[in-house]
Amino acid sequence: MQYFVTTNTPVADETDCVVVAVFEQGDLSPSAAILNEKSNNHIQKIIDRGDITGKAGQTLLLHDIDGVTSPRVLLVGCGKKDKTSENDFNSAITAMAKVLNDSGAREASSYLAEIHLSSRTKSWLVRQTVIITESTLYKYTQTKSDVKPQDKPLTNLSFFDDDDKIEQAALTGHAIATGMNLARELSNLPGNVCTPTYLAEQATQLGKQFDTVTTTILDEAEMEELGMGSLLSVSRGSRQPAKLITMNYQGAGDDRPVVLVGKGLTFDAGGISLKPSQAMDEMKYDMCGSASVFGTISAIAELKLPINVIGVVPSSENMPDGDANKPGDIVTSMAGITIEILNTDAEGRLILCDALTYSERFSPEIVIDIATLTGAIIVALGSQATGLMANDQGLADALLQAGNDSYDRTWQLPLWDDYQQQMDSNFADIANIGGKEAGSVTAACFLSRFTEKFTWAHLDIAGTAWKGGGKAKGATGRPVPLLVQFLLNRIADKNKS
Ligand code: BES
Ligand code: MN
Ligand code: ZN
Repeated sequence: MQYFVTTNTPVADETDCVVVAVFEQGDLSPSAAILNEKSNNHIQKIIDRGDITGKAGQTLLLHDIDGVTSPRVLLVGCGKKDKTSENDFNSAITAMAKVLNDSGAREASSYLAEIHLSSRTKSWLVRQTVIITESTLYKYTQTKSDVKPQDKPLTNLSFFDDDDKIEQAALTGHAIATGMNLARELSNLPGNVCTPTYLAEQATQLGKQFDTVTTTILDEAEMEELGMGSLLSVSRGSRQPAKLITMNYQGAGDDRPVVLVGKGLTFDAGGISLKPSQAMDEMKYDMCGSASVFGTISAIAELKLPINVIGVVPSSENMPDGDANKPGDIVTSMAGITIEILNTDAEGRLILCDALTYSERFSPEIVIDIATLTGAIIVALGSQATGLMANDQGLADALLQAGNDSYDRTWQLPLWDDYQQQMDSNFADIANIGGKEAGSVTAACFLSRFTEKFTWAHLDIAGTAWKGGGKAKGATGRPVPLLVQFLLNRIADKNKS
């Protein structure tokens, strides 16, 4: 899809479809009011007849209205006037994208960004329109054999431009959406395609696509050399060799980097502590953290952001096998800390701890890990918020802020010392599980033992990275918007000081 800015008015717009907002109680947006006036009250009559109530996400496609240049007018409900919420706007744009794509219109102009959302700018609405449109039109097809291309898909969307920030907002939205769709595609691929080796190849591809990105891959022998006994112990039960992927995006000379560490478990069967078979297929999504790192690197490289970001992806499978970790086994991590593996299904932390220790070598300004780490976070926060824990409140606040700004929200859980004793082990320095209580917090406590040398935050995305079950099953591309926003805010803050 391509995005443009226009200075047309809705009546004279020579596009295939103009899209305008209507509200509950028959209120018209400014552009809908202009169309109404030029069409001799045509729009108002339809509303008075009750064909559209203005409820968020309702649509009505009209054709050949006298006095209007464009052959189609799409009315989109946006909720209560001046009270449209972010969720209302999301519903409205999702509906718009679907209807436009099926309408036969190749080009359209959206006048929905003129509506009022409290504390959101017009730029924000344009950016969000692009992100939601791209997300709505994303379709997974890679492993389907009969894919019929859409007859007349929508290819161009324009925005009315009365301020020069609009074009940049569309570009930012496009880069974020492309990053999200890359993350979704990698995540949706099955475990027998998307292996650690496949992820490594994709990272190499990203390095070829952008000359600002340099990819390096470590194999198991090289990880052995570094002493990554914890990561390698997880991989030992799998026929697929583990990879440690590094994607280095350099946009700011030799500034200290932000390091993003993404869990890349391409299939989590649980190991010897085997998971139940119910919905086990969804454990192909246990690499969504790594996918969000790929997506974020792609977005910031497309935007040429002036910042240095290093993506580190430990990638492995977790399988039951004669050579797999057994409950009670003790392994030695790269940091030298010994770990008693009481549950082989708590494997994410075992691969992340070595990747976190590895990150020290980049002298990071901050480190953020992103992981589908615990089922407990789904119980606590559902699919709305990503779990956030940090060893620095300033960093936590910045991530909470970025979550609100991007509407890809996080919620903080405590990382108090009080929880640390749950990780005590009789036989090693630390156990890999902390009992029934506060499962997401104790998982973060485990990681915190390996992050003492830097400012660090942990994002548990087990509830937000994909939608489970039946028809809706699929990756969401979260938290790419959050991460890109966090980096954008960081650049803006640096420019201020
Ligand atoms: N990848 C899972 C976490 C997970 C479970 C994400 C379900 C999404 C849905 C992780 O490796 C895991 O198995 N965690 C265990 C930890 C437990 C053994 C302490 C969990 O959450 O059950
Ligand atoms: Mn697991
Ligand atoms: Zn896992």
